[in-house]
Amino acid sequence: MFNLILFGPPGSGKGTQSDKLVEKYGLVHLSTGNLLRKEMAEKTPLGIEARSFIDKGQLVPDEVVIGMVDSYFDQHKDAPGFLFDGYPRTVAQAAALDRLLDLKKTSIELVLFLQVDEDELIRRLVHRGKTSGRSDDTDEAVQRKRQEVYRNETLPVAAYYDKQEKVVNIHGTGTVDDIFRSLCDVIDKKSK
Ligand code: AP5
Ligand code: MG
Repeated sequence: MFNLILFGPPGSGKGTQSDKLVEKYGLVHLSTGNLLRKEMAEKTPLGIEARSFIDKGQLVPDEVVIGMVDSYFDQHKDAPGFLFDGYPRTVAQAAALDRLLDLKKTSIELVLFLQVDEDELIRRLVHRGKTSGRSDDTDEAVQRKRQEVYRNETLPVAAYYDKQEKVVNIHGTGTVDDIFRSLCDVIDKKSK
């Protein structure tokens, strides 16, 4: 198995680049944001609980997300590898993921960290909000909150993987294709 984490703040392009990476490398895309939005659209109990956090720009509680990831993992037993997008987002989630992968006798190979400054992030998300229909996109105050939550709760995840020497920083501004090429260069070197 070849497992990758695409890491970065809200709006850094994780979803955009994930679509291209899963197509090129045949990985299974695991986006907790997408899974949660599906639960919300279907108004499941999990979705209803998640909405109360997502609409405020807060994180959904660890136990909810970790359980969802475990069951997604079990539904894709034959996956050649996973691309984790928007997960893990807290140090507790990172530790849970390490335990899960350990149990399956595999591990994270690489953490690709998309670096984009905050003004550009807000610009992108305000723009996306005009068409995305995402309930956490429409209000700039909620977007600022998501960036603050990222700095406080998610950034420590980069330090967690830095200790394991798995993090590679990627310049996250420029064209989508240029950023994609930078990501592929690092993956190709690592998977040789
Ligand atoms: P999630 O869906 O994961 O959202 P996010 O991490 O906040 O990030 P986004 O999806 O907003 O941005 P992205 O990095 O994917 O960028 P994108 O490619 O769209 O999470 C949503 C919420 O769910 C969280 O706030 C939380 O409440 C909850 N949640 C999810 N996972 C959780 C977890 N593990 N634990 C707890 N709670 C969790 O790009 C952004 C925009 O920029 C797009 O419009 C795109 O077209 C544009 N763009 C992309 N690349 C470029 C470029 N190179 N130049 C210009 N524009 C670009
Ligand atoms: Mg996304």
